[in-house]
Amino acid sequence: MSEERFLVTGALGCIGAWTVRNLIRDGADVAVFDLDSEPRRLKLLLTDEELERVSFVAGDITDLEGFEQALDEHDVTHVIHLAGLQVPFCKADPPLGARVNVVGTANVFEAVKRRQDRISRVTYASSIAVFGAPEDYEPGRALTEDDRPIPHTHYGVYKQANEGTAHVYWADDGLPSVGLRPYVVYGVARDQGLSSTPTTAMLAAAAEIPYHISYGGRTVFQYAEDTANAFIQSARSDYQGAGAFNLGGQTVYMEELKEALVEVVPDAASLITFEDFQLPFPTEIDGSGLVEAVGPIPHKSLKDGVAETVEIFKGLIDAGKIDAKQYVAERS
Ligand SMILES: NC(=O)c1ccc[n+]([C@@H]2O[C@H](COP(=O)([O-])OP(=O)(O)OC[C@H]3O[C@@H](n4cnc5c(N)ncnc54)[C@H](O)[C@@H]3O)[C@@H](O)[C@H]2O)c1
Repeated sequence: MSEERFLVTGALGCIGAWTVRNLIRDGADVAVFDLDSEPRRLKLLLTDEELERVSFVAGDITDLEGFEQALDEHDVTHVIHLAGLQVPFCKADPPLGARVNVVGTANVFEAVKRRQDRISRVTYASSIAVFGAPEDYEPGRALTEDDRPIPHTHYGVYKQANEGTAHVYWADDGLPSVGLRPYVVYGVARDQGLSSTPTTAMLAAAAEIPYHISYGGRTVFQYAEDTANAFIQSARSDYQGAGAFNLGGQTVYMEELKEALVEVVPDAASLITFEDFQLPFPTEIDGSGLVEAVGPIPHKSLKDGVAETVEIFKGLIDAGKIDAKQYVAERS
């Protein structure tokens, strides 16, 4: 049996569900800490037997005492902090967004600092949204961690604050941390947030239903399984410092994503369309800083990631686990 006991906050979300799946398949003990109590995304990715090996704590990350209790009850050795509210939810209620994303992250750092003998570091989700729009930077140059964050959203401001919190805990308390800045994460279970519509298109294509993706332009796509592995690898690393790193992936135009989809579902050529709108994030990013810090990070090709996603969606639709028409209608 493994000596590692992971606690994953926000583990009922998309990246969290893949993180739990990969850890369980690795033989690690995993506790889920989430406000929600319905493991609907986990049920899409784990078998019933795998699900039985997961411990569940229904808790609010804004409650420091409750979080500390969960860490101790499960004798946790590794923390991956993914709980958070995404761009649209922070926009709809900025004070709540600040409470969950900023206070919640400060709670994670404080609780781990108090248990550094057992939990050596914090691994947490920042975001590409700490950066500004493409026009804020020199055209064509890939942004590194040295480029200035200029967030345009409340969400991005909160993520930038978290990176600052990490630096202060390193400077004052010697608590190391790795923050990852995902971009467009796609794959089964990516069902909410500003950049989730390409995944909905994969489900729509699998079910042969028309769908319009809400944006286009050039972005970095990261397969959810690879993203989860990048968090796990960072949590197991012995990195010293308070690095907040860009995450690499496949940098493509939306047309290329559509081409990958058409390869597996030819009818997607007419069924799937997209808006000619660039998300307000940089078009080129350099992910080499993370590789230097924690080692090589594997990224599936877009073609393989899209094909695998469509195949899993088809299986889930056939098994009656996803009602494709309702799913797509709710996200149109
Ligand atoms: N998905 C992406 O493309 C992407 C890109 C950049 C950054 N991120 C960041 O990665 C992390 C995970 O993203 P995701 O796509 O899995 O998000 P998600 O929205 O699918 O899941 C977030 C989870 O956090 C939980 N949560 C919300 N408030 C909570 C609270 N107060 N206490 C405890 N749990 C709470 C939710 O119940 C949910 O299960 C987030 O911090 C997100 O900001 C995601």
